[in-house]
This record gives sequence, C-alpha cells and structure tokens, in this order.
Amino acid sequence: MQIHSSIADLRTALKGRGRVVFVPTMGNLHAGHISLMEQARAHGDTVVASIFVNRLQFGPNEDFDKYPRTFQADCDKLATAGVDVLFAPTEADLYPEPQEYVVEPPAIQHVLDGEFRPGHFRGVATVVLKLFNIVQPQAALFGKKDYQQLMVIRNMARQLALPIDIIGGETVRAADGLALSSRNGYLSEAERAEAPRLYRELNRIREAIRAGEADTVKLENAAIEALTAAGWQTDYVAVRQQLDLSMPKGVNAPLVALAASRLGNTRLIDNIEI
Ligand code: PAJ
Repeated sequence: MQIHSSIADLRTALKGRGRVVFVPTMGNLHAGHISLMEQARAHGDTVVASIFVNRLQFGPNEDFDKYPRTFQADCDKLATAGVDVLFAPTEADLYPEPQEYVVEPPAIQHVLDGEFRPGHFRGVATVVLKLFNIVQPQAALFGKKDYQQLMVIRNMARQLALPIDIIGGETVRAADGLALSSRNGYLSEAERAEAPRLYRELNRIREAIRAGEADTVKLENAAIEALTAAGWQTDYVAVRQQLDLSMPKGVNAPLVALAASRLGNTRLIDNIEI
C-alpha cells in the first residue's frame, strides 16, 4: 500500500490508475470502516482511503483533541483489506491557509444532528468536496451509520454535478447490536454494557410501526423515556422519511428512525431503516 501526505504526490500516484474508488475516514479504523474498503473493491480498479481528523467539523467543545489517533494500526488494517493508496495529509497539507471558501449545505444541515452540532455538516461537506477534488474518484463510499452525512454528501454531489457515484454501506454492528464507532472506545465497561439499548429502542420503534402503530411521536417519546430511565441524556429520537429526513406523512413511505444520545460524556448516534 502506498502512503502519501502531499496533494501533489497523491495526484502523481493516481495517474493512469483506472477507475478510482474512494473511502474517506478520520482513522481509528474498525470493522465498519473496513467493510467499506472491501465493498470499494467491487466498484473500481484502485481503492483509495484517506485518514484525516477534520478540525472544521468539530464544535469548540467537542472531542477534536482527544479523538483517537492510531495511525500505525490503521495502516496495517488498510493494507490487509487490500487498499491500494492511503492519503494521510497533515493539517498543513490540507489547510495550508484558513479554509475560507466552504460548502454551505441547505436546511438539512440544521436538523437532527445538525441542530446539536452547529456547523458540523458545513465542515463535513467542505472537507469531503476538497478531498474529492484532490482524489478525483469516480465513486466514493460512505456508511449509513452516519445517515444524515450520507444524505448531505449525496445531495451535494447531485446538485453540484460531481461526476462521482455516491455509494452507501450498511452499518456494521457488534454482536450485541451496538453500531461500531471510534467513539465506543470512550465508554467505560459499564457504559459499554448499557450502550446496545440505543439500537434496541430503534428496533422497538421499527417493530411497532411494522405492527401498525401510526403515532410516530408517541414512539419517539417512549424511546426517550426508556433511555432517560436507564441514565442516558438524549438529543433526539426521530422517525423521518428516508427520502429527505422530513417529518413522516403517514407510515407507508420508507421511514428511518434516528437517534443521538449520551451515556456519560460519550455521544452515540444510530439509525435503522423501516
Ligand atoms: P469516520 O467517522 O471515520 O467514518 C468514515 C466512514 O465510515 C463514514 O462514511 C462512516 O459513515 C463509516 N462508518 C463509521 N462507522 C460505521 C459502521 N459501524 N458501519 C459502517 N460504516 C461506518 O464520517 C467521517 O469519518 C467523517 O465525517 C468524514 C466523512 C471522513 C469527513 O471528515
């Protein structure tokens, strides 16, 4: 596996490599990331991953400084997964001057996670567009774990006519249902044992809707109550339309239940398609 930190070197390395498939990450890789790398192989000739902890998408009181950085272990996992090229820029490589030109996503950036993480999706869209311009892939993979992020990037690619197929990968979970996340490493042993409740509550919502329950607000509130009783602090539990994350107009269109909740100091997100 080739590793490049400079934009110029990466561009040289990618000349004449056929169809390039790209998987951007912030590192501290787990089986969820690796499943995207493995799926990428089917979509092109050269698989490119990136590792960059993007300051622009973290709020002032968020975990940018303590975000886990495990570069050597990540490189080993990527090489084993058959990734051809890793782009791992420093902040000076990617942001040699203040990033003043940004991508401002539309209203979707202010709902759900965006309501609780102001500026987050602006930071994500900006770095992803910049990475796309550097790597110039024909396809890129993103996990459904970050459902709203996948939607922001899909919509950006469509509206800005980027010549890139955006492909969503299914969420990879631990045996007890907890969605794999780099932030799971922040959990104490007791919190880790409690953490699968988030997915269980989302499942409960799905089963209730499948069984005919049409009052989605009642289901959201019941999930929030169950989480609160178990010691969680919930930002949102929301049933939305898959199409655009708008409020459901009935339970017949494809829906998705999304949640963000904190156990101690650790904020976990998850979602389930209905
Ligand atoms: P990061 O959190 O490292 O995630 C990188 C990619 O892996 C994202 O597309 C994310 O949705 C996916 N992913 C994470 N956990 C997953 C799981 N359990 N199953 C399947 N896929 C999973 O998301 C980011 O980085 C950043 O916002 C980024 C897009 C790189 C921009 O900085």
